[in-house]
Amino acid sequence: MPNIEVSKVREISVADLNDLCYAAESAIAEGGGFGWLKAPPRQVLESFWRGALLVPERTLFIGRLDGVTVGSAQLVRPSRNNEAQASSATLTSNFVAPWARGHGLARLLTRTVEEEARRDGFLVLNLDVRATQEAAIALYEHAGYIKFATHPKYAFVNGAWVEGYYYYKDLQADA
Ligand SMILES: CC(C)(COP(=O)(O)OP(=O)(O)OC[C@H]1O[C@@H](n2cnc3c(N)ncnc32)[C@H](O)[C@@H]1OP(=O)(O)O)[C@@H](O)C(=O)NCCC(=O)NCCS
Repeated sequence: MPNIEVSKVREISVADLNDLCYAAESAIAEGGGFGWLKAPPRQVLESFWRGALLVPERTLFIGRLDGVTVGSAQLVRPSRNNEAQASSATLTSNFVAPWARGHGLARLLTRTVEEEARRDGFLVLNLDVRATQEAAIALYEHAGYIKFATHPKYAFVNGAWVEGYYYYKDLQADA
């Protein structure tokens, strides 16, 4: 059985950053799911991950399969002015490289982000996903996320609108 692990990162080594970019490029080429439709130039991807480490509201988690970085997820806290939603955080940019799927790594990334959110005192975790991301939808529904809305014009892909689904999880009810 391959070994899976997830860690919160505050700094990223060049090797991990390379692996993360390669994993992201492969996931985007296979169908994306966290924004990009086409893999951007490598330096744009590197800035994306480095930016996630710099923004105080974001926490980056990376997933490893047998020691190699193959996926990640982010916990995004509300901005300071948003007192009304200070109890809700967002799970975003959750992906695993195509060759590393099916070993429970996304489930572990998701659970780790939830645990971090709970530890920080958040009561609710929100996320949204394109309706075409079937594996992600199954992942979240099995993990207890509740679909509360459909956005009919969530994304514009190849000249057509794609619906998006909005989910939340009550972090107190489902510990
Ligand atoms: C969604 C994704 C992260 C799943 O990664 P993974 O590591 O293969 O997932 P796991 O092995 O942890 O599977 C956990 C659960 O997800 C669901 N799942 C995963 N792959 C699935 C698939 N191909 N079809 C249906 N359900 C699937 C299952 O419920 C699975 O639980 P089970 O094995 O007990 O049935 C991965 O397919 C991916 O990166 N997709 C593209 C990016 C994306 O859509 N991200 C989410 C939106 S931001």
